[in-house]
Amino acid sequence: MKAEMSTRTVVAGTGHYVPPRVVTNRDLEKLMDTSDEWIRERSGILERHHVDDGVGTSDLAVEAARRAIADAGIDPATIDLIVAATLSPDHYFPGIGVQVQAKLGLGPIGAIDVRNQCSGFIYALSVADQYIRAGTCKRVLLVAAEVQSSNLDFSDRGRDMSVLFGDGAGAVVLEPNEDGGGRGVLSTHLFADGNFVPQLWMEKPSPRDRPTFQTAFFDEGRFFPKMDGRQVFVNACQRMPEAVRAALAANGLAIEDVDHLIPHQANDRISLMVAKGLRIPVEKVVRNIDRFGNTTAASIPIALDEAVKAGRIRPGDLVALTAFGSGFTWAAALIRW
Ligand code: UT7
Repeated sequence: MKAEMSTRTVVAGTGHYVPPRVVTNRDLEKLMDTSDEWIRERSGILERHHVDDGVGTSDLAVEAARRAIADAGIDPATIDLIVAATLSPDHYFPGIGVQVQAKLGLGPIGAIDVRNQCSGFIYALSVADQYIRAGTCKRVLLVAAEVQSSNLDFSDRGRDMSVLFGDGAGAVVLEPNEDGGGRGVLSTHLFADGNFVPQLWMEKPSPRDRPTFQTAFFDEGRFFPKMDGRQVFVNACQRMPEAVRAALAANGLAIEDVDHLIPHQANDRISLMVAKGLRIPVEKVVRNIDRFGNTTAASIPIALDEAVKAGRIRPGDLVALTAFGSGFTWAAALIRW
C-alpha cells in the first residue's frame, strides 16, 4: 500500500491519556504469586495505569482525542472521519468510534472500528491513509484506546498475562499534505496469519456457544485473555523486523535512514530483540513500557506522542512504526515527519 499520488497523509497533532491510578509491580505482588524482580527482568515493566470502576475505553479515547485535536489546533467540526482501534470496546457492540463521535459532539461523520489488537494502530493508520490519499477525507481522527485491567486474571493462574497489560489511549489527527513536499506516511504494510488464533486470544464469549455465557466457562477462566507467551515472543521478534524491512525496501530506504523506531510496546526484551534483528542502535528505539506496560493498540500512539512532545522526533526525521499481536497480525509503517 505505497503512496503513488503526490498527496501524503501527515500527522497534524498527537495526544495521549492514561488514567491517573498507577499500579506498581509491588501492588501486584499483593494479588498473586509474582515479584517485582520477575516482572522487571522478564518484561522491563515497572508500573502501569489502571482505570477505576465506571471508566471505559471510550472515556480514555476521548481524552486522548481532545489532546490531539488541541495539539493540531483545529476546529473539531472539521473532522470528517473517525477511525478507532481497540480490542476492549465499552460494549460487545457497537464499537467505540461512535462513542468518541458523540462525546466530542461531532456531526454525523463516519466512525470505523478496527479490530486488530496490538497491530490496531498501524492497521487503522493504513485505513485512514487510504481515505486521505484518495481525497475522500480531509481530516481524520485516529484514536487507539484500551482498558485491559477490568478483565485480567489477577490470580496466580493469570499471572503471565495480568502483569504485562495496562490501560491507556493515544490519538493522532491526520490531514493531506498537498504541498508536494516529502512529509507524511510513506507506506503501510499489513500482515496476518490466522493459524495462530489460539496462541493469543480471548476465547469467550463466543456466539458459537448456546448459550454464550456459561458458568463452566467462568470457572475455567475462559473469559480471560490467554496467550502462549513463548510463541508470541518468538514470532514477535521475527515478524516485526521483517515488516520494517519490507517497508524500507518498498521505499528504497535502508535501516541507516531510520531516525526513530517505535515498536509496539509488548515487552522491553522484544523491543531490544527487534532492534538487534534490524541492527538499529538502541538509542533510536522509543521505549516507554516501563511506565505503561503493554497498552495494546494504544502503545504506539502513546510512545509517538511522548517522543514528539519531548522534541525527540523533529521535522524531516524518518519514523518507523511496527507492531505484532493477536491474530497473529503484524505491520509496519514509515512516516517522514
Ligand atoms: O502484545 C503482544 C502480547 N504479548 C506479548 O508480547 C508477550 C510475549 N511473551 C512474553 O513477553 C514472555 O513470554 C513472558 C513475559 C510472558 C514470559 O517470559 P518468559 O521468559 O517467556 O517466561 P516463561 O513463560 O518461560 O515462564 C518462566 C517461568 C514459569 O515458571 P516455571 O514453569 O519455569 O516454573 C512461569 O510460570 O515464570 C513463571 N511466571 C511467572 N513468575 C512470576 C509466569 N508469569 C509469572 C509472573 N511472576 N507474573
